[in-house]
Amino acid sequence: MNFMPEPWRVKVVEQIRLPSLEQRERLLAEAGYNLFRIPSEAVFIDLFTDSGTSAMSDAQWAGMMRGDEAYAGSRNFFHLEATVREVFGFPHMVPVHQGRVAENLLFSHLVRPGSIVANNSHFDTTRANVEANGGEALDLVVADGRDPESEHPFKGNVDLRRLRELFASTPRERLPLAMLTLTNNSGGGQPVSLANVRGASELCREFGVPFYLDACRFAENAWFIKEREEGQGHRSVAEIVREVFSLADGCTMSAKKDGLANIGGFLASRDRELIEAIKQRMVVIEGFPTYGGLAGRDLEAVSRGLREVLDEEYLRYRVGQVAAFGRALTGAGIPIVRPTGGHAVYIDAKRFLPDIPQRRFPAQSLVVALYRAGAVRGVEIGSVMFGHEDPETGDPVLAAMELVRLAVPRRVYTNSHLKYVVEVLEQVRDHRDRLRGLEIIEQPKVLRHFSARFREV
Ligand SMILES: Cc1ncc(COP(=O)(O)O)c(C=O)c1O
Repeated sequence: MNFMPEPWRVKVVEQIRLPSLEQRERLLAEAGYNLFRIPSEAVFIDLFTDSGTSAMSDAQWAGMMRGDEAYAGSRNFFHLEATVREVFGFPHMVPVHQGRVAENLLFSHLVRPGSIVANNSHFDTTRANVEANGGEALDLVVADGRDPESEHPFKGNVDLRRLRELFASTPRERLPLAMLTLTNNSGGGQPVSLANVRGASELCREFGVPFYLDACRFAENAWFIKEREEGQGHRSVAEIVREVFSLADGCTMSAKKDGLANIGGFLASRDRELIEAIKQRMVVIEGFPTYGGLAGRDLEAVSRGLREVLDEEYLRYRVGQVAAFGRALTGAGIPIVRPTGGHAVYIDAKRFLPDIPQRRFPAQSLVVALYRAGAVRGVEIGSVMFGHEDPETGDPVLAAMELVRLAVPRRVYTNSHLKYVVEVLEQVRDHRDRLRGLEIIEQPKVLRHFSARFREV
């Protein structure tokens, strides 16, 4: 079976509409060919991100009605605290409204100018939070993790040799912590093996460096360990998660991913003093430590989501759906980054559109074509996002890869929605010689992908 049936049935539906071709053309022109400027109601299938876009279960919605909206000591905080203890094994935690606040709180406490933080690959908010505190964010993913065609089963692994070299050559006071991101979002959602987490943990212990995990997609990562790592197939995902997190001193978490919630997150640690100190700072920027910028009902949704996500029928389907989507695209001759990760498929636009030169943004051109052909929204991860103009010469500085990410929200789209996306891409493939490149006509100085405007050339 390529696409596996959904292990849930639908109880509530939300209408989606396919705008007419004329409407799509008009919206594209008005948006300056930037999909960030298209209203979501004009998108038929929205594969922009898997973050905060999950569908909650009946049990989570029921839990929302049990929200205790007390300022201090809400019962839902105690539920979440108990869940974090049971699922991850961390005794101390504070809730936050999303993952980057956990990063902000942790790094503003630990990172100083001159600090170096190693990671497999920093997610962009993680990097920004390290750098905002004067630190250097170092990506040490294994070489296979940078090769879009390598079929290595754990392309998110950190290079342990380089990590050891870093630790051995850097004074301890410049190493406030090291991290691993499970799964490695910036590297295509690729997993990290249990052996690699153990190796990184041992090195951290040897050099006395605190070891934290970015846990956003912890359950998907554990599923890959169960499926792909020798000797792990007979264990439950819950057991694997407990072992992975037993190797770390703490974690940051955005519950907008594997928390199966639309908002929320937490920072957890074994270090009581650290969490107590962070509580003081937290009151100023995020809220009292038993609600952390969230309503009591949100805490409950996260608490229930963190347990639900360990359901292996769900995980088999979830990771299987993304893999089947990838296989269907490969079968249609659409080049993608191999193997598919946990939450998204990445199309290699340089290979798909070889006639559009890189300075004309082939991945952005493909994103526009997908919307024009079928009101499907993906996101460009290429020279619009990572490139810039040289401040002296004005010449374009281009990204290493030109990718289009199609992220799959959790429990939102059925297999037939994804088959529709494959058909839209087949149409685009059949007429790809007609696609045009783009030129930027307006852009801000930083983070230009959010608001730049383009013209088709
Ligand atoms: C790996 C990783 N870390 C951190 C974050 C930040 O989480 P949030 O968007 O909740 O602030 C994200 C969000 O996409 C992520 O993918």
